[in-house]
Amino acid sequence: MADVETMKAIRYHSHGGPEVLELERVERPQAAGGEVLVKVHAIGVNPGDWQIRSGLAGDTFPLPYIPGWDVSGVVAAVGPDASLYREGEAVYGMTANSGACAEYVVIPESQLARKPESLSHLQAAAVPMSAFTAWHALVKQGQLTTGQTVLIHGASGGVGHFAVQIAKLLGAKVIGVASGRNQAFLRELGADECIDYTVTPLTQLPGIADLVLDTVGGPEGDTLLAVLKPGGRLVPVTYGHYSADKAAELSIDVQDVRLLQIATADLERIGQWFDEDRLRVYIDTVVPLEETRQAHERSESRRARGKIVVQVIP
Ligand SMILES: NC(=O)c1ccc[n+]([C@@H]2O[C@H](COP(=O)([O-])OP(=O)(O)OC[C@H]3O[C@@H](n4cnc5c(N)ncnc54)[C@H](OP(=O)(O)O)[C@@H]3O)[C@@H](O)[C@H]2O)c1
Repeated sequence: MADVETMKAIRYHSHGGPEVLELERVERPQAAGGEVLVKVHAIGVNPGDWQIRSGLAGDTFPLPYIPGWDVSGVVAAVGPDASLYREGEAVYGMTANSGACAEYVVIPESQLARKPESLSHLQAAAVPMSAFTAWHALVKQGQLTTGQTVLIHGASGGVGHFAVQIAKLLGAKVIGVASGRNQAFLRELGADECIDYTVTPLTQLPGIADLVLDTVGGPEGDTLLAVLKPGGRLVPVTYGHYSADKAAELSIDVQDVRLLQIATADLERIGQWFDEDRLRVYIDTVVPLEETRQAHERSESRRARGKIVVQVIP
């Protein structure tokens, strides 16, 4: 690679377990029109990273592949027609097509915002995808309003822990569902009621919620339909089985899982909540870039409390 600038990146050449992740030296990307080259300080890990790595998304993302969507870092260069940020500014956001698990990444400026002042790079990297997904599910899809009751299934994870706090910000009553070890955490987040799913089956809570946000998915989705009041709404952010007949019988609107694209305005709205101390991010695990396998293993365990972050610059 003579005369070509290179960088360290985590990359894989075939789908599989965490062992396919390799630390490699690859060509440093260059910002094209409307893009910014970001020197990466930290990367937020999302379950999508290991789901794609395992092959669950098929050939949608061509190999070799650099995982990672959520980034916090510093502007290293701006491409043609990109005018919003200057070299040296601290920014956070989400890439258009992954590639964040590296020393540098290009991001459309329309998917970046200035890093909230109150957050470190480690914290800011943990925010974009999960917080935006929580906000979109509650507000855009769930149409949650003040005084309504929302049950958040998987309330202690990346999406769920933001959803609990955002629903409280919106004036809703929040019922959080997680295992026993996370009950105190749910209360700390502001949940009004906390359900330990290992003790209380959701079937014992019929008709209590206007909205259910499901971050867990899987085959048990019909128990979530039973939790809703007739005419309620179910918003899954991952794939689960919900009986169409049962939903129709109860006049429940089951939303489709959406793959979302973040915009600067979303990052600014969320960032302001942090700077006003109305929203907090909880970090479960931090690992250096070289140990990204560990971050994937932790995410894949489905036991993370809050977010997992890969650190590039300590
Ligand atoms: N559509 C989108 O754009 C989008 C965006 C982000 C995420 N997602 C998807 O949403 C899902 C959740 O993401 P995430 O980042 O929140 O995951 P996560 O951080 O890995 O979730 C971990 C949490 O899930 C809880 N959990 C596991 N099984 C549970 C169960 N049966 N009942 C209740 N809680 C349970 C765990 O709590 P306990 O240890 O207490 O069980 C843990 O705290 C993933 O499938 C992800 O791919 C979709």
